[in-house]
Amino acid sequence: MNAMTDLARALAQGQTTDSALPSSLFGLPDQKPHERVLLAADAETGLKAIIAVHSTARGPAFGGCRFWQYDNELAALNDALRLSQGMSLKNALADLPFGGGKAVIIKPAQITDREALFKAFGRAVQSLDGAYITAEDVGTTTADMLGMQQVTQYVSGIPRAGSFGGDPSPFTAWGVFVSIQAGVRQVMGRDSLEGARVALQGLGAVGWHLAEFLHKAGAKLVVADVDAGKAARAVGQFGATAVGVHEILAADVDVLAPCALGASINANTIAGLRARIVCGAANNQLATAADGDALNARGIVYLPDYLVNAGGIIAVAREFRGEGEQTAVMAEVSRIADRVVELLDRVKAGSTTPARAADDWAFSKLVKA
Ligand code: NAI
Repeated sequence: MNAMTDLARALAQGQTTDSALPSSLFGLPDQKPHERVLLAADAETGLKAIIAVHSTARGPAFGGCRFWQYDNELAALNDALRLSQGMSLKNALADLPFGGGKAVIIKPAQITDREALFKAFGRAVQSLDGAYITAEDVGTTTADMLGMQQVTQYVSGIPRAGSFGGDPSPFTAWGVFVSIQAGVRQVMGRDSLEGARVALQGLGAVGWHLAEFLHKAGAKLVVADVDAGKAARAVGQFGATAVGVHEILAADVDVLAPCALGASINANTIAGLRARIVCGAANNQLATAADGDALNARGIVYLPDYLVNAGGIIAVAREFRGEGEQTAVMAEVSRIADRVVELLDRVKAGSTTPARAADDWAFSKLVKA
């Protein structure tokens, strides 16, 4: 996932991420507490990493490793805590035999030896004796995972000659695609995406695959990326309409698919949204739980990120267990659409919002596991 580095570039260009400071070291206001959080440092390589193990109730905590420049260490902690709870909920709703965890490595200003840095991180993962299993996330590549494999067996997302493995982003995109199909059918009564208008924020590893699936299904795309070259390529390849990064959230579309950074749906942006449905790959799209209520009050149906973007973790989890096979994994990812339908049924039955219904559903599966 070489395109992962693009997010780091976006940050360098002044784009912000969900990096508010945590009010407590032991968890964020909207969260259930974490089981444990490891701070790992290594002077030789410059490693500073946080491994957040949110829950092992269903099994070992499984979630990717983000390699990112943060404004400060607490912002990194905030990201790790938010992302790791999201993994507990994601893995539970995906019926995976794994708990939730996530790691962030604070990207040093200068990297002298990337391989050594990731190996130092791999040793920290190994020190947890399997309580946490890592894989790719924003800023990391399959090559990083491959290097880490020399020091820990608790790593996935690795190209494996002759067996299933590697980059999870096509699977993530497929899960988001089938969720958009299901959402459009349920909310708008349309059986086809032919002519449906979809805005894509971010055309990276996941966003680009998603654009391909949507284009093939006949959707009309509106796109934006901080990398103008990617947007231009989407215009050429998919007949997409390119708009500015500050305009994409307010595009006049049926579906908004955030596929860039977290917290893009917030108190400042919700009023401007014109989509009927929000369904995208980005983790932690809502800045706060209240933003889910605000979307609902505006009649916008939010399909929770951790429900629809589980395709990647399904793929790396199957790979890790040595039971992955392309067709079977794609079929498993396709079943995310059934969960979207079930969620919308739960919303109707419980007079609640999709975000709250998904939280209740996922937390109930954490307790039961
Ligand atoms: P990526 O780094 O390949 O792509 C992100 C894209 O967003 C880049 O092209 C970047 O230039 C663009 N971007 C950054 N800021 C932007 C802005 N303000 N407006 C428009 N474009 C902007 O990352 P990837 O793998 O595609 O992941 C995207 C999101 O999906 C992330 O939030 C990630 O955590 C999440 N996700 C990814 C999974 C995967 O399998 N790769 C799995 C589950 C979630």
